[in-house]
Amino acid sequence: MNQQRTAPTEAPPSWATAWTPAEGAARARALFRERLGHEPDGVWSAPGRVNLIGEHTDYNGGLCLPTALPHRTYVALSVRDDDRVLLTSAQADGGAVWEGRTDRLGPGDVRGFPAYTGGVAWALDHDGVLAGVPGFEAAVDACVPFGAGLSSSASLSTAVAVALDEDAGEAVSETDAGRVRLVDACVRAENDVAGAPTGGLDQSAALRSAEGHALLLDFRPGLSPAQSARRVPFDLAAAGLELLVIDTRAPHELADGQYAQRRATCEASARTLGVATLRDVDPAGLEAALDTLPDDVSRRRVRHVVTEVARVEQFVALLESPEGLAAHASELGDLFVASHRSLRDDYEVSCPELDVAVDSALAAGALGARMTGGGFGGSAIAIVPAGTEQDVARAVVRAFAERGFAEPQFLTAEPSGPAHREP
Ligand code: GLA
Repeated sequence: MNQQRTAPTEAPPSWATAWTPAEGAARARALFRERLGHEPDGVWSAPGRVNLIGEHTDYNGGLCLPTALPHRTYVALSVRDDDRVLLTSAQADGGAVWEGRTDRLGPGDVRGFPAYTGGVAWALDHDGVLAGVPGFEAAVDACVPFGAGLSSSASLSTAVAVALDEDAGEAVSETDAGRVRLVDACVRAENDVAGAPTGGLDQSAALRSAEGHALLLDFRPGLSPAQSARRVPFDLAAAGLELLVIDTRAPHELADGQYAQRRATCEASARTLGVATLRDVDPAGLEAALDTLPDDVSRRRVRHVVTEVARVEQFVALLESPEGLAAHASELGDLFVASHRSLRDDYEVSCPELDVAVDSALAAGALGARMTGGGFGGSAIAIVPAGTEQDVARAVVRAFAERGFAEPQFLTAEPSGPAHREP
């Protein structure tokens, strides 16, 4: 089949397959032994994520619907009985071991890789999850594609959090309420130490997701842990579907400043509208609310957030309906497309590579496609009938080649489990 559509010389699309947990754990353990010279206390891991729908809503008190990837970050870790911190990664710093002290891991002390590892120890102490910042050693290896908008950073920080919690703390990660405390500490490390003003979507997905499910997250301030997350069935295989992830490999240097700007505009608009967060804008009164905003940019940003929260509600209602995913695949796909348009036109966080990924996947038979994550590069996702993912991927590769974009990479997202200790 499809012989005519595929030129015989065309190379197969490049696929990022996930390691098995045993392979990931063995890699991290071997790296620890090689660079740090002894056996670790254990290996912990946490997943990357895709967000199905609900983008740029977390910091607006809204709804998100992520699912965890089988691609994980593996952290081999040992607590020390002095104040030294030794950190090394197969992906960072060309094989070097970063060395620091427990009293120099907070805001202004560290950036980058040490912020997402050492900074987490600082935040866990700051939030009272740990009694003091422990000395520790960690070696990290990951199959979460780096810089692809699939939350490789949050998979790192949350794996470190469960490791320190279990190895140096009270294992609060054994309950969902405890995991919420770890989410908060990892967000603090990202905001205050790494300096990225992100919301809690990525860390919540990594710490609270469940295999075979999507996770409905509600960021309305003041909710209890039980009110803030709900598992939603998302059995793609049973519905004869696949979720194709397209890593555009587009550089996204603008991301940090642009993200902070979007957030600031939303917060200023909430103040103008007299609400705590944009979640409190009633969709029925949206047009009237928009009329009170001072400029077109604010109006479009607010319209995206309010309509996106409504799309999450519709998406979840379809998934939870008695007929479920299989019966509603095309409506779910339409919601993907509406979300992408809103992010592209109103929120202005897409880019040419993401738009081409979405359009070419749709033209090749995807039921729906949209950018996922923060945007300005990173990845798109497409719902496709099972067995067509290679054809859709080839169509995207061709569309990218025609425009002179870097070759994209693909993976398939099977809803996976949260951060935990590896056996
Ligand atoms: C990034 C941030 C998240 C979230 C998304 C957009 O992934 O880390 O907190 O805001 O962008 O939905």
